[in-house]
Amino acid sequence: MNFMKQYENYRSHFEVYLCNQCAGMAFEPQILTESMRYSLLSGGKRVRPVLFFAALDAFGLPYDGEEPLAFALECIHTYSLIHDDLPAMDNDDFRRGRPSNHRAFGEANAILAGDALLSLAFEIAVSECGRSGRHLLAAKSLAHAAGASGMVAGQSRDLLCSGRAGGEEDLLQIYRDKTGRLIAAPVVMASLLAEKDEKNAEEYGISLGALFQITDDILDETGNRSALGKSVGKDAQEGKLTAVSVYGLEGARRLADDYVRKCHETLRGMRGADTAFLAGMVDYVYGRDH
Ligand code: IPE
Ligand code: IPE
Ligand code: MG
Ligand code: MG
Ligand code: MG
Repeated sequence: MNFMKQYENYRSHFEVYLCNQCAGMAFEPQILTESMRYSLLSGGKRVRPVLFFAALDAFGLPYDGEEPLAFALECIHTYSLIHDDLPAMDNDDFRRGRPSNHRAFGEANAILAGDALLSLAFEIAVSECGRSGRHLLAAKSLAHAAGASGMVAGQSRDLLCSGRAGGEEDLLQIYRDKTGRLIAAPVVMASLLAEKDEKNAEEYGISLGALFQITDDILDETGNRSALGKSVGKDAQEGKLTAVSVYGLEGARRLADDYVRKCHETLRGMRGADTAFLAGMVDYVYGRDH
């Protein structure tokens, strides 16, 4: 099956589950449910759930039945976007093709929608822990990837490095933490569920995450608002430390090429896994326009 068709299979499998979960949400006050739904259902490529299903497939496990952890991943990612857009962070008005959460619901409600999505993710993940010790390990690794050793640390360093000169070392740490950890999490979680090759899974995910953020940085400079569904030109405006600010556009593209090679190299080391789709993911991220 070709890559995009398979991607669409994973994505739509997730989307059905997500829509059902959102339809069943009845948190009070109602504005909380509305603001959580608004961001969850406003599109998004669903890269992390797709990677989770694909990695389970690659390790020979069925993904049918593992939707809750995919949903937990997307809740954490969506919360990270809501908070990332806040005036105190990147101050972005536009996300996933519409006004960002705080533009639609106000800043305080946006903060609370993010808080609620993060807590919901762990309510779901903890509920999965009763199924097996492997699910417990997967939930623990998700928490680690999301928090002060992962995405939150990356966001903190991103802010610390904004508006002042930074070097390659800071940039690579930002890539690893703010983006890499949550891109690696689904692959690592699948490897824990399958009891297979956690080391290569993590290395592949971190490199794919760096590639993902390099293309995000390039698209912020060269991309188009309607295709991206978010503001462009903001990184330069805010003085963000990005691949483009450190290396220039051509240098950023060369860095992306290095990470493409790194991802493929790591996949070659994943013995016993069917890595065709994970390899396709590398080319998809490299070539993406949104
Ligand atoms: C955007 O993530 C934030 C970054 C890590 C660069 P995505 O590009 O996966 O955003 P959606 O989920 O498709 O909107
Ligand atoms: C954010 O990186 C990564 C997150 C942890 C949300 P960016 O700030 O570059 O993401 P965009 O460009 O706003 O999506
Ligand atoms: Mg940011
Ligand atoms: Mg941002
Ligand atoms: Mg960006």
